[in-house]
Amino acid sequence: MESHEVADRDILFDVREDVERLFNRHMEAPRLWYPHEQIAWDEGEDFQSTPWSPDQYPTSEGVRSSIYVNLLTEDNLPYYTTTILGHSPKDHPIREWTYQWTAEENRHSTVIRDWVHVSRCIDPTVLEDGRRIQMTSGEFPEPETFSDLISYVAFQERATQIAHRNTASRLPKEDRVGRNVLGLVAGDETKHYMFYRDLVAASLLVDPSTIVQSLERQVARFAMPGTGIPRFTRHAVRIAREGIYGLQQFLGDVVEPMVDSWRIAALEGLSAEAEVARDRLFATIETLRASVERMADRAAANGALA
Ligand SMILES: [Fe+2]
Ligand SMILES: [Fe+2]
Repeated sequence: MESHEVADRDILFDVREDVERLFNRHMEAPRLWYPHEQIAWDEGEDFQSTPWSPDQYPTSEGVRSSIYVNLLTEDNLPYYTTTILGHSPKDHPIREWTYQWTAEENRHSTVIRDWVHVSRCIDPTVLEDGRRIQMTSGEFPEPETFSDLISYVAFQERATQIAHRNTASRLPKEDRVGRNVLGLVAGDETKHYMFYRDLVAASLLVDPSTIVQSLERQVARFAMPGTGIPRFTRHAVRIAREGIYGLQQFLGDVVEPMVDSWRIAALEGLSAEAEVARDRLFATIETLRASVERMADRAAANGALA
């Protein structure tokens, strides 16, 4: 058995009660909402008699890219569930959590697609082509260990919450349905984020050295789960330019507050390897800060020239 397998088994054993506690907390604050009740169905039109065109829902390319990428990311759920269950032993409560999480994630693609089709905010043919290409490519993040998995998912749930929330705020004022739909989804992501953030916190008490090394790896190589989406990079650039989600949000809304909340800088008793990883983590954060500042300077210079 490899050493990371021993570490994973020990962490899973030791956080068992924390998983139960966090799962119960999640279930005590239910957010039961029905996708079909959120949609203004009478505003919908037949695509055969009225084909899609962009002027039916005026908005920027960045907002359209964000709706497209965010929805396709939710569509890819079967692969994420498979990955997470691969790290969930049969008799462990993390399985029950994963089933609940899957059920909640599944309604995100349902409700967003219903809204997309009725509002006509993005091209439904391009969307379906993108879905098919993404899902048949089978490209999705696969963290190697349990501690890497919970570290990745904690960052990813937070990033997804920010992306949905910022997209909602950039929809046209009159699209109350769209704002509500994305707000409900962002609310679910907030609860998922809280579960994984606090599971990482509990795991840090059990095995800080293993978790710090996982956090360092996941920050250094972090990518949103949509990399199998056609022209992902082009969409990602547009989404960042729109101020919805990019390096600035990854640093300021995701990494910095989370690393602070886990008090990584103050952790004691780390192994020599984990000390090196912690130094690297803070060096990566510094590099991210420098990049974000450079981008802001460039944007200001461009603004001054315009
Ligand atoms: Fe989701
Ligand atoms: Fe989520």
